[in-house]
Amino acid sequence: MEGEHVRLIFKESQDGRAAYSLPKTTIEKRGLLGDYKRENPGLPQVSERQIAGHYQNLADLNFCPYSEMDPLGSCTMKYNPPLMEALASLQGFLDIHPYQDESTIQGVLEAMYFLDSYLCDIAGMAKFTLQPSAGAHGESTGIMIGGAYFKHKKEKRTKILAPDSSHGTNPASITNLGFEYEQVNSNEQGWVDLKDLEKRMTENVAIFMLTNPNTYGLFDPNIDKIAEIIHRNGGLLYYDGANLNAIMGKYRPGDLGFDIAHINLHKTFGTPHGMGGPGAGPTGVVEKLKDFLPIPTVEKQGEKYILNYSLEHSIGKVKAFYGNNSVLTKAFAYILMLGPEGLRKVSETAVVHANYMQEKLKKKGFKFPYGDQHCMHECVMKHENIDALGHLMSEYFKKLQATIHFPEANCYMIEPTETETKESIDEYIEAMVEVDKAIKDPTAMEELEKRQTFTPISKINAKKGMARPCLIEKEEE
Ligand SMILES: Cc1ncc(COP(=O)(O)O)c(C=O)c1O
Repeated sequence: MEGEHVRLIFKESQDGRAAYSLPKTTIEKRGLLGDYKRENPGLPQVSERQIAGHYQNLADLNFCPYSEMDPLGSCTMKYNPPLMEALASLQGFLDIHPYQDESTIQGVLEAMYFLDSYLCDIAGMAKFTLQPSAGAHGESTGIMIGGAYFKHKKEKRTKILAPDSSHGTNPASITNLGFEYEQVNSNEQGWVDLKDLEKRMTENVAIFMLTNPNTYGLFDPNIDKIAEIIHRNGGLLYYDGANLNAIMGKYRPGDLGFDIAHINLHKTFGTPHGMGGPGAGPTGVVEKLKDFLPIPTVEKQGEKYILNYSLEHSIGKVKAFYGNNSVLTKAFAYILMLGPEGLRKVSETAVVHANYMQEKLKKKGFKFPYGDQHCMHECVMKHENIDALGHLMSEYFKKLQATIHFPEANCYMIEPTETETKESIDEYIEAMVEVDKAIKDPTAMEELEKRQTFTPISKINAKKGMARPCLIEKEEE
């Protein structure tokens, strides 16, 4: 397979060859597809083994945290135990229909109810909605809740603030929902500039969105002062919980003054993130905002679990039915498996790994703009040559699977996560040193290029690919 293209499955097709076939139906045919129905849809005729083999070959081309370290900063691409998949595949979770009567899905509702209460314990919130299906979706839900709260209070607040280091989804969610986005500057230490925040936090501002640790991988120690500024001016403090992997069991956003928080289950809680798989961004609120949550919420009534549709000021539904149940189940199982001590250990180990990496890379001459501080679960490096790198930047730095040009230009962001070993982190550091050497030395670069054999194409022409994406296999010459 190495270095070869995977042939299109259509090329394997042979007339009359078949995999599993459904028995002839006895149900009367109705013209559902009308004129669009074709007698021969032109599907490849292949055996079951060929189908399985084809997709396995494609899957083998993927880079994934099962096979290698994937330290994509701000993404928490950790190893997810397959046990979670097995549990989410249990018949009682899988073979159910969203229209089933509550009495027949008590187990699923119980899992949701407890997931909600565990997330409340972890984040210091009063109640969560499990409906949002991504971090950005959680942000939108939280903003809508904040908007409804101020509308109810008859306060006209049209602006939402977020720091310059915030993830792109923050300003996007703000403007998508019709609020005006205003950027708050960071100070020299990479924390929120309190003077700038104070200046911008007017009575027109509804919410300040913040992730802590922030996207520089730094814990902002002024969080109590930030909360005081926001609340003194009648605003709400929003916690972007995408970086929760750094703080579990250490501090709870609710205890530090956050009023709304979303959590990326697909980062922190043992469910796949990116590279395939749905997500979940449950969004929690403090007591005074509970009535604004989307409906239905999952509640316990006596011995029964019920779906509650009667929240007085609910913003309505934000997703069909109740959320991405498979992701929720996996996260629920992950929390049960680790327990409070285990979750705390996750965060402690993630932070130790990132600091180990930062210190070791500093000793090897790499530059960290905030390297005089301990980082949290990720660290941000700045490459002095990055401007001059041009295409090499994406060719080589991307091969190291880190986030580039975020949170600011010329940055390289690394999040080793807790599931790596010291050896794999050391190996990664050596790879960084090698790539760095290659950038400065054409011979070393040639050597490195020769070793790019994992994918069929070692050097992507990104410019051409964007201008003329070719999604079909070329005819063989
Ligand atoms: C800090 C931060 N906030 C929000 C998000 C958005 O989460 P999602 O990709 O699930 O929409 C991310 C995603 O990487 C993030 O890193």
